[in-house]
Amino acid sequence: MRVFSSNKELLKSINNQSLIGIVPTMGSLHDGHLSLVKKALNDNNQVIVSIYINPTQFNNKEDLKAYPRNIDKDLEKLRDFKDIIVYNPSDNDVYDKMTSKDYDFDELGKVMEGKYRPGHFNGVATIVQKLFTMFKPNNAYFGEKDFQQLLIIKALVKKLKLRIKIIGCETIRDKFGLALSSRNNLMSKEEKGDAREINKLLFKAKKMYISYSVEEIREKVKEKLNSLNCCKLEYFEIDDLGRYSKFLVEDGKRIFIACWIGKTRLIDNIPI
Ligand code: PAF
Repeated sequence: MRVFSSNKELLKSINNQSLIGIVPTMGSLHDGHLSLVKKALNDNNQVIVSIYINPTQFNNKEDLKAYPRNIDKDLEKLRDFKDIIVYNPSDNDVYDKMTSKDYDFDELGKVMEGKYRPGHFNGVATIVQKLFTMFKPNNAYFGEKDFQQLLIIKALVKKLKLRIKIIGCETIRDKFGLALSSRNNLMSKEEKGDAREINKLLFKAKKMYISYSVEEIREKVKEKLNSLNCCKLEYFEIDDLGRYSKFLVEDGKRIFIACWIGKTRLIDNIPI
């Protein structure tokens, strides 16, 4: 494993003729990230794992401050993957000015995460475009837990006519069904207990969808979540997000949820 903070140094160690895969992350790596790295290593000759907490995608300063940072542990977890290249830049290595570009992702950028986290997707697209432009990967790997982000990145690549394949990988869950997320580390034991209800509710909602309307299901989900100690529903949708962007095709409905568990905001989704 080789670790770089400067993209110029990193580029010197890459063979442009080989197949390059990238796994962009914000660190606090868990088994979900590691499964992306394994898949990337399987598909490519060289794999770059970027670890960078990108300030421009946080629409809330407190959230950025609280975001877990564990670079030593992260490098420890990656150490077994001998052949990877880690890109761990500082803000100055990435940004001249700490601002994001203004993208138009049609309605896809305005619903759900786009609605509740204004500016978030502009920040994500800005950093992902920078990584793609710097390293020109053939393949890029993202988790399906952030499904709307995955579609935004697919739309970005189409819009910019980049020759990069975006590969969405299945959400990895703990044994209780909770989707792995770096933010899970921020929750207390009691909060984690409540968080484990989210996935159960998604599967109940999937069964209900045969006989009930989305509005009726949303009400039931809201009732259940709000009855828990630490939980508050932000949104619940059943939709095919592909229909919100001219760069994407419809690909089937999924059930999406975002909720607050104490001060931690979690999202999850499953296919219908
Ligand atoms: O999903 C994430 O961790 C981030 O949004 C990403 C894609 C690494 C961009 O900072």
